[in-house]
Amino acid sequence: MALAPTIDLLRAARIGGYGIPAFNVIGLEHAEAIVRGAEAERAPVILQVSENAVKYHGGAIEPIAAACRALAEAASVPVALHLDHATSRALCERAVAAGFGSVMLDESALPLADNERQVADLVRWAHARGVAVEGMLGMVGGKEGMRDTAEERTDPVEAAAYVARTGVDALAVAVGTTHGMVERTARIDLGLVSALRAAVPVPLVLHGSSGVSDADLAAAVRHGMTKINLATQLNQAFTATIRACLEANPAQVDPRRYLAPARDAVEAVVRDRLRLLGGAGRG
Ligand code: G3H
Ligand code: ZN
Repeated sequence: MALAPTIDLLRAARIGGYGIPAFNVIGLEHAEAIVRGAEAERAPVILQVSENAVKYHGGAIEPIAAACRALAEAASVPVALHLDHATSRALCERAVAAGFGSVMLDESALPLADNERQVADLVRWAHARGVAVEGMLGMVGGKEGMRDTAEERTDPVEAAAYVARTGVDALAVAVGTTHGMVERTARIDLGLVSALRAAVPVPLVLHGSSGVSDADLAAAVRHGMTKINLATQLNQAFTATIRACLEANPAQVDPRRYLAPARDAVEAVVRDRLRLLGGAGRG
């Protein structure tokens, strides 16, 4: 088991018709909770670290990557490591050096030709090292640090051409979600998901999944989404638990007293998502 190539998990999920969640890691507690949840559900899982999370850690990916890798290597289920929303080629290279099996180069804000050129160049470099690349076409708003842009849904014909021209192994698409939503009111265009699934030969990636109802998330998988990126749902559970602990005991000074229950709360969300998306028992 242990550290697994991301592409293996994506392909197995696509063929098996289930969703594989990629959970965003902020610190060690998140990573521990995700791996514990996956082990409890006997499910494969992807730990992903975003460029924004790397910035939070002072710009160095190596310490958090080493922690994720150590957890993956010790896990009793397959765990893959993915770099999320990188806009820096140098960061992609550092992630690969740190053992990540896949990277997302998010050039969706660039004009199409520039997006394709940058991503195709990275794909050549990454494939020579056995690493998979996720590209993005269309605009999913709401990401921290992103300029305010109108949502722009992904066109299936353009998506097929983008995959052919870049050689990406997975494609992030815009189908009605927004990053960072704390209420589950986003409406996924399931017809568009089906059309993309029919047109695009690689696994599709849903970003901003926290704003989607459970019924719609399950339907999105049934219609053809494979990698389901989840961050805010974990952070809601983590932060609400810490808030409740500190409100109950404002004099508390030992972080372990509130981080342990917060980690347990994240693990519970992870387990629930794994069951919903169909990965439970597949690891
Ligand atoms: O790349 C990460 C995600 O798209 C997470 O979005 O915070 O809305 O779940 P979320
Ligand atoms: Zn995202």
